[in-house]
Formats: sequence, C-alpha cells, structure tokens
Amino acid sequence: MERELVIVLDFGGQYNQLIARRVRECNVYCEVKPYTISLDEIKKMNPKGIIFTGGPNSVYDDASPHYEKAIFEAGIPILGICYGSQLMAYTLGGEVKTAPVSEYGHTEVSVDTEDVLFEGVSEKTVCWMSHTDYIAQAPEGFKVTASTPVCPVAAMACPEKKFYATQFHPEVMHTKEGMQMLKNFVINICGCKGDWKMGSFVNETIAQLRQKIGNGKVLCALSGGVDSSVAAVMLSKAIGKQLTCVFVDHGLLRKNEGDEVEAVFGPNGAYELNFIRVNAQQRYYDKLKGVEDPEAKRKIIGEEFIRVFEEEAKKIGAVDYLVQGTIYPDVIESGLGQSAVIKSHHNVGGLPGVVDFKEIIEPLRMLFKDEVRKAGLELGIPEYLVFRQPFPGPGLGVRIVGEVTEEKVKIVQDADYIYREEIAKAGLDKGMGQYFAGLTNMRSVGVMGDFRTYDYAVALRAVNTSDFMTAEASEIPYEVLFKVTSRIINEVKGVNRVMYDLTSKPPGTIEFE
Ligand code: XMP
Repeated sequence: MERELVIVLDFGGQYNQLIARRVRECNVYCEVKPYTISLDEIKKMNPKGIIFTGGPNSVYDDASPHYEKAIFEAGIPILGICYGSQLMAYTLGGEVKTAPVSEYGHTEVSVDTEDVLFEGVSEKTVCWMSHTDYIAQAPEGFKVTASTPVCPVAAMACPEKKFYATQFHPEVMHTKEGMQMLKNFVINICGCKGDWKMGSFVNETIAQLRQKIGNGKVLCALSGGVDSSVAAVMLSKAIGKQLTCVFVDHGLLRKNEGDEVEAVFGPNGAYELNFIRVNAQQRYYDKLKGVEDPEAKRKIIGEEFIRVFEEEAKKIGAVDYLVQGTIYPDVIESGLGQSAVIKSHHNVGGLPGVVDFKEIIEPLRMLFKDEVRKAGLELGIPEYLVFRQPFPGPGLGVRIVGEVTEEKVKIVQDADYIYREEIAKAGLDKGMGQYFAGLTNMRSVGVMGDFRTYDYAVALRAVNTSDFMTAEASEIPYEVLFKVTSRIINEVKGVNRVMYDLTSKPPGTIEFE
C-alpha cells in the first residue's frame, strides 16, 4: 500500500518537528529531511507536498542553506514558512529585504479568505511572527494573500503551481488558526486523503519487520519504559520466539523498578518472551566513578549498554539484530540536518561507533511519544503500562547532577519514591506529563535536632507537556509540596533541603542533565 507522505525540508528552524506533528495530526504521514537531501531522493519518496521550514539565516548570508531551483519544477506543492517563504520568494525572483527592526510575537494579520490556504480562517487573525528579513515583493505569478502594517507580504500564493508561503509560523499554538491553514495545505492543496492511522502503521511495521528479519535472531533492549516495551511487543508479534529481551539493571533505576519490570515481562508475566535480566549495577558504578560531565556520563552508560548486549548476544549465539525503542524526538534532539545537538540521547548519539550487530532496528524511530502510546494500545498493551511515566535510558544517571555514586543513587531512589507516592495520593498522577526527584550537586548547612548537618539538596521536578519538546512546570499545590518535603527530609538520610524546579523547557530541559 502506497502511503501518502509530506516532507518537511529542514532549513534549521526550531519548530521543524512541530510542523511534522501538525501534519500528522491531519492523519498524513510526515517526515523531516535535512535540506541537503537531493532532489532525486525527494522524488523517489513521491511526496504529496513539501514544507520548507524556518531557519535562523538570511537568504543573503553566504552560509545560508539554499535548495536547487529545480524543486519548483517537480510538480510538487510547496509551502514555505518564515525563512522558507523568503527562500521561495528569493529563488523565484521576488525581493527579500532586511527590516531595520524585527517583527516578533503575536501579530494581527489580514488574510485573503478567498485563498485556499486561508479557507475557513478569519479575515483578521492572530499569527506568530519571528523575523527580521521580509518579502518586499512577491515573485511574478504570485499574489499577496496576507499582510500586516509592517509586513507587506505576510503570505503569498501561486495557486496554478500550488506554491504557498507564510512569513508567520502556522505550526505554533500562538497562531490561532494555524492548524486550519496547515490542514488546508495538506488536504485541499496537496490533495491528501488523510488516511494515515496508527492501526495501519502497526500492521505495516510488523509485516516489514517479519520480512526483514526472516529467520534471524533478535535481541531487544528492554528497559520497561513505554518506548522499549512497545518495541518489544511489536517485535514479539512479528517474530515470536526468535526475539530475546534483555533487561539491564544498571543500578540507575527507580526504587523497586527492576523487580517490577521482571514481574511484567519475565517468566511469570503476561508475555511469552525470552527474558534475561542482567544485574550490572556494580559494573556501572565502577565505570562512572569520578565522571562529572553529563555528556561523558551518557556516553559511558550508552556504551556499557551495548557492551552488555553484545555479551548476552554472544551467549545466545548468532544474533543478527539489536532492537531499540528510539523515538522521533530522540533522533531530532541528537542532531538532524542543521538543528543544534541538544544532548546525545543514549539511544542515538550516545552509542559507541563500533557495534557488534549486523544492524540496529528502531521500529518507533519515526513516532512521537503520544503516537508510541497509541501504537501500544493498538498492540493490546495494558493502559497502565502505556501511560507510564517516561524514564530516560540513562536513568538516574541524568537525574544526579555530577558524579554518580551508589550512595547518591539510594538517596534519589528514596526521595523519588516518596514524591511519587504523595503525588499519587493527592490524585495528581494522571494529569502530569512527567515528575521525579533529582539530586543536585549542592550540599548545604542545616540543623536537625540540635545538630549541624551538611547534606544534599533534592530537587523536585514536575512538568506539563504534550510532546516533551516544550514543557512548563506543573502547579503542584503547596500542601503536597510541603508534605513531600517534610517526608523526604525526615525519611531520607543524607538530605537536608528540598527545592522545587520552576523552569520551563526551553530554556531548561526536563531532565537535569
Ligand atoms: P529532556 O531532558 O531532553 O527530556 O528535556 C525530554 C524527554 O526525553 C527523556 N529523555 C531521554 N530518554 N534517553 C531516553 O530514552 C535519553 O538519553 C533521554 N534524555 C531525556 C526525558 O525523560 C523526557 O521524557
């Protein structure tokens, strides 16, 4: 079955994955590709439409990313956004200028509602602007379809060729009717049917996996988190007992987590899996001794994972593939095209260069978190597993700032356990995106009883997020925070201070490292 595809051509903007998400919300499959992809490759993928993203450059910078003009002769509808709109105007002979001041933030835009892109949109609509350069003159054959008092071409269109461009960002929430505009592009302009559904993705992927793997043996890195659990169940449906799941207890798990994972996926659990638990705690503590740099810690943890898997694979013998539950934001944040590397997710950039497997299979590589959950439900995985708190592969290693020691791990485990218990008791556990306790590298003076203490500060984090790319601190009632604080101080040895982290992402990240 040919799947409808829209390509987001990445020119280095911050919102590129958001554009892909929005397109998928129209039930059209979408992938982000770097602008360095060749036109031939694009044509081979047979996209129904292309979206040029924004980007930090001016089209006049020597280093600015451009694309060959022939893309405009390929007969594919194109929507240019922000930098992408300027690039379209510039390449097709319009005029792009630099304004003396930038236009930034919520802006009222007057739009031509006769234009297909703005069908069903209000004549005056609030859009999100973020630019310095602007299109002063649309290219020949284009009509201006939106403007603001300071931006003469806030949108332009050449309906005959199906080229559209907006100076503002329809993909961000601040553009009130942006979703309608994207839907108009994808459905009405590109002619997509919008029939991409999770059920078909799951079945297609299982069939592809079965074909690719044949009689091969596969090892799955199972952490018990949502992503790897969904990957494991998907693989088990595809190849049954050819799959072995290896669960590494790296000593950086939450309290009791090792036993909980074993209870679900182990011999007494609900799945008929070959399941191996490797207790590698001490090995990790030894490797992490004295290491403070977050990226170095991630790389060590990632490398050790692979080494453990290689050892297990040798014991099983002739293992061809390694499966990981990598998801799309991991791939993007680890650096794709022009976007900056935020951190090396251990599933992706944290892997060592040499890996002793024929290939690594990542069946969820193209899915966002909520899509992984939908896939999990399609696969019949129980809700309590599908909606588990996300837990990073490097585990408590990225929730302990600075050097990891066994003592610090115990402190975070106990503090985090209390925090989760109290959040659940207060009935707040369902609504929140992610919450956990971390350990700062700070020790400070306190007084307990009549004695001076010099102990660690625990940081509590709780965020609301839908896509894990942006997040805001949750407003936890003071009484709950107070209760958690007093329990942690009283019950966890080595802690004399508890703090609540109010930082959003960006500029923070969800984890501490
Ligand atoms: P950050 O800290 O990057 O987290 O804002 C975004 C989401 O990703 C999870 N995360 C990871 N997951 N390997 C993973 O499997 C990693 O290295 C990793 N780092 C962060 C984090 O828990 C949050 O849900």
